[in-house]
Amino acid sequence: MTQVNTEHRNQYALITGGTSGIGYELARLFAKDGYNLILVARNKNRLAEVTARLKQEFSVEITPLAKDLFNPYAAEEIYDKTKEMGINIDVLVNDAGQGEWGPFVETDIERDLEIIQLNISSLVSLTKYFLQDMVSRGEGKILMLGSEAGTTPMPLLAVYAATKAFVLSFSAALVNELKDKDITITALLPGSTDTDFFHKGHAEDTVGYREKELMDPAEVAKDGYEALQKGESKIISGSKTKMHVFMADLLGAKRSADNNRKLMELSDKEGRTEPSHEPSKEEREGIVQETGSADGDYRPAKRTSL
Ligand SMILES: NC(=O)c1ccc[n+]([C@@H]2O[C@H](COP(=O)([O-])OP(=O)(O)OC[C@H]3O[C@@H](n4cnc5c(N)ncnc54)[C@H](OP(=O)(O)O)[C@@H]3O)[C@@H](O)[C@H]2O)c1
Repeated sequence: MTQVNTEHRNQYALITGGTSGIGYELARLFAKDGYNLILVARNKNRLAEVTARLKQEFSVEITPLAKDLFNPYAAEEIYDKTKEMGINIDVLVNDAGQGEWGPFVETDIERDLEIIQLNISSLVSLTKYFLQDMVSRGEGKILMLGSEAGTTPMPLLAVYAATKAFVLSFSAALVNELKDKDITITALLPGSTDTDFFHKGHAEDTVGYREKELMDPAEVAKDGYEALQKGESKIISGSKTKMHVFMADLLGAKRSADNNRKLMELSDKEGRTEPSHEPSKEEREGIVQETGSADGDYRPAKRTSL
């Protein structure tokens, strides 16, 4: 068992999307620092597996909470559950998020609206409920998963990028509103990261996924975690991401959109098709099993199948 720090003993971090990718790596960092965790995701098996694994490694309390944040009532149910458990949330991590690749005219409107619900509406609701409590108690921290994509238009991932632009604007406004309080809001902006994100969003055949170097979710999580603990308002993870954000700003929306489109076009080269990071690999295998598709041809899991 890994020795945990005692500094945050008896504190609680609630992490949406804590079972995979960046959220999973954040969960490990919080557990290592002694936080008790509430992990929110849809897949019950994966939640149970991650809970068992983290409990084996860290002597902290871990509560899995299976909720679907595509559902407009899920945020309130999550908040009510924490009240029922009699705990205060010291840190809220709004990590769960998805995108869907494709020309906007062709993507399914239900899927687009679900993504807006997950990436924006559920994030706003969770922030509202838990922030009100933090303000009453006079302390708290919130980590928001933004993205490099939120700083620039992304053709073929248009809705997703726009939701992340919302997250960045929303976070910056809250930073200002809370500046006289002992409550911090930190926006984490990763670049393309090797997680299950691309597979979930049908973006695994793009130039950006197949041919480009991807960030390690553990590195991204570490950047976000450290910035959160320092109370920084924004962290762009990785030097390449910083350069991309700088260039996008310099080039302006139209030329950046042209550049981004090249990354989102389909690749005709051999290249990465499977995630290489361990939790993502497991997630991918889990998805293949769930859908029963031997060739791994993944379609978005429907709510009922989780
Ligand atoms: N990967 C990238 O390149 C990248 C870059 C910039 C920003 N980000 C952002 O980072 C965040 C984490 O993504 P990731 O890359 O780590 O992806 P990931 O590996 O696919 O993890 C997503 C997590 O969110 C959960 N989740 C997905 N849909 C959900 C729903 N409807 N309700 C509740 N939980 C849900 C997933 O569990 P279940 O499937 O079991 O629900 C999983 O735990 C997202 O906000 C994403 O936009 C990712």
